[in-house]
Amino acid sequence: MTIRSVVIGSGHYLPEKCLTNADMTRLVDTSDEWIVERTGIRQRHLAAEGETTSMLATKAAIAALEDAGIDPQTIDLIVLATATPDYTFPSTATQVQAALGITGGAAFDLQAVCSGFVYAVATADNFIKAGSAKRALVIGAETFSRILDWTDRTTCVLFGDGAGAIVLEAREGEGANADRGILCTHLRSDGRYRDKLFVDGGPSTSMTTGHLRMEGKEVFRHAVANMAETVEESFRLSGISPQEIKWFVPHQANRRIIDATAKKLNIDPSRVVITVDLHGNTSAASIPLALSVARRDGRIETGDLVLIEAMGGGFTWGSALMRW
Ligand code: ACO
Repeated sequence: MTIRSVVIGSGHYLPEKCLTNADMTRLVDTSDEWIVERTGIRQRHLAAEGETTSMLATKAAIAALEDAGIDPQTIDLIVLATATPDYTFPSTATQVQAALGITGGAAFDLQAVCSGFVYAVATADNFIKAGSAKRALVIGAETFSRILDWTDRTTCVLFGDGAGAIVLEAREGEGANADRGILCTHLRSDGRYRDKLFVDGGPSTSMTTGHLRMEGKEVFRHAVANMAETVEESFRLSGISPQEIKWFVPHQANRRIIDATAKKLNIDPSRVVITVDLHGNTSAASIPLALSVARRDGRIETGDLVLIEAMGGGFTWGSALMRW
């Protein structure tokens, strides 16, 4: 008997305000053609004034809990991936816990930037497998609009705000690839690349929030190789082949990175879930947003083999294979 972390619900939330590429041309010297050709992005959602990461996260969590059909009080772990917390402390996870009326268990934030959701899934899965939690809420939520330099056209056109969540539940499995639940996770990081993608502020350095800075070409160069590396390791160790993947749900940073990674991994384009066109890069929220969208429109069905992967600042990267 093996304990498996099975997805029993998913949900997402996008702020109402939506900025198209045409809207972006009124803010910086750019064009719809440039943005679409280089990134595949057509629009992004932005949090309203006063709308915080915890508010987006709470709405996504409520949708996931409703989808699971469970009482929020039965959640004994909340792991919230974000690089844009409401405050330096307390954690955004505890704000969500309070908003949901949950008074038991543990809640904490996890910071791995765009890889945050994969890291959060791996963390929650290990808590569940160790017997330390029975039902975990795993959330990715961001308000990247608050850390963008809105005068820098090389970065401000790329990102958006949003939140997504899944509920994981401990269930018994056979220890086989046919089991429902998280089958394997692989996490990596390499801190030597800190200055390729970072925020130029923080409580212990500038005592300000800072703005996102990125060497886009360098990030692009590492992204495909890094993400493919952990996925190939998952395939090798699990014995699962690319052809068995029903849905590939990568971090939604850039259409060109997604297409190149799928090609390198030998995954058919019809199996790739794309939301970057409509959401932009929502960092830690992008994968749970895409999972929830694909679940709600009927693409992801119970029993489907789903592969998620991401890379982000640090660099951090990782992947997880799960049977929904
Ligand atoms: N609109 C119009 N022109 C622009 C814009 C813009 N928004 N931004 C840059 N340009 C110009 C540049 O100034 C440059 O002009 P120049 O040739 O006169 O100097 C020209 O376009 C080409 O710029 P590059 O930076 O070389 O463009 P590139 O083809 O590399 O595309 C991009 C830039 C889209 C950022 C690409 O490098 C990329 O996608 N990198 C990956 C970054 C990423 O996705 N990061 C997300 C976070 S990490 C993650 O999630 C994996």
